[in-house]
Amino acid sequence: MQIPWSETPAIRPLAYADIADLAEIEKEEPSAWSQDAIAAELLQTDGLQFVFSKSGITSGWLCCRISGCEAELLKVTVSKKCRHRGVATLLLSCLEQELTERGVGKLFLEVRSSNVSAIAFYFQVGFTEVGRRINYYRQPTDDALLFKKKL
Ligand SMILES: CC(C)(COP(=O)(O)OP(=O)(O)OC[C@H]1O[C@@H](n2cnc3c(N)ncnc32)[C@H](O)[C@@H]1OP(=O)(O)O)[C@@H](O)C(=O)NCCC(=O)NCCS
Repeated sequence: MQIPWSETPAIRPLAYADIADLAEIEKEEPSAWSQDAIAAELLQTDGLQFVFSKSGITSGWLCCRISGCEAELLKVTVSKKCRHRGVATLLLSCLEQELTERGVGKLFLEVRSSNVSAIAFYFQVGFTEVGRRINYYRQPTDDALLFKKKL
């Protein structure tokens, strides 16, 4: 069942005040986004971003861009110490609810073929693999797997 973010106290739209905390979480990952990159998402008129923050501790976020009746998930990151507790699942559920309300019917994403934990997560939450871009990523070179979820 999808849960609207407005009914989920731990989830709220990204605010400028979250950026420093999120950049620290991002630093745990090789594909880390900088503070500037996160801040830039807030300026996107076609963007949607949510954070998971409970008891003053921010532990994850995601962002997407909307194009007509489709959207692309650009980022989902949960801090290492808060993984396997359903944070990403909840963030995604709230995003999907918001997208559905805006008339978006399909959510796409790209992921490194070596990112086995993210791939396991995407399958678990209902995405299907719809393509592969050979050698799409650099440093290190890797294929991109394309995933899609019908909302
Ligand atoms: C992928 C990621 C966002 C998952 O966040 P999370 O909050 O731990 O995910 P959830 O707790 O909601 O997991 C839901 C399900 O996904 C699957 N899953 C999540 N992480 C997994 C892992 N490391 N290995 C296998 N399955 C995994 C499991 O089925 C899990 O259910 P379970 O805990 O009951 O077994 C997190 O591992 C992360 O931030 N990774 C680094 C950033 C990244 O690679 N992002 C994606 C590409 S941009």
